[in-house]
Amino acid sequence: MGRHAAPSHKPPDSVMARRDRLRGLLRAGGDRLKSKLARELPVPESATVSFGEVTGEVPGGISLLAAAAHLDVDLDHFCGGQASCGTCRVQIVRGADKLSSRRGPESMTLGQRADSGDRLACQARVLGDVVVQIPAFFLASGKP
Ligand code: FES
Repeated sequence: MGRHAAPSHKPPDSVMARRDRLRGLLRAGGDRLKSKLARELPVPESATVSFGEVTGEVPGGISLLAAAAHLDVDLDHFCGGQASCGTCRVQIVRGADKLSSRRGPESMTLGQRADSGDRLACQARVLGDVVVQIPAFFLASGKP
């Protein structure tokens, strides 16, 4: 019986690789987003964001998803921040008025959950101090 070469598999996309990619995207579009948000609400230099037990300072105007990456919090984002998958959905415990306003694509993806105040982390921009709860089943690590 002949030997077969092991099938070549692309290594799985690690959480760190996804986080690095997200940080790169954020750097590329950060200035453009800040100027867009400045027309809506004042964008602070920084803000305090809490994800459960993890709290830290993040640059103002970044998305909650980018804030999670900034603070090394694992948060799923299967569609890459296109507001279409809903895996980045978070519950806003405090500071909902310190986030950018919800737009059409986010409301469509959230559906009825939009009425409960949930937000898509990839769409909500940080404009002040916010406390966020990640639904346990959406944590990338599977742990709260
Ligand atoms: S990452 Fe898919 S909706 Fe936010």
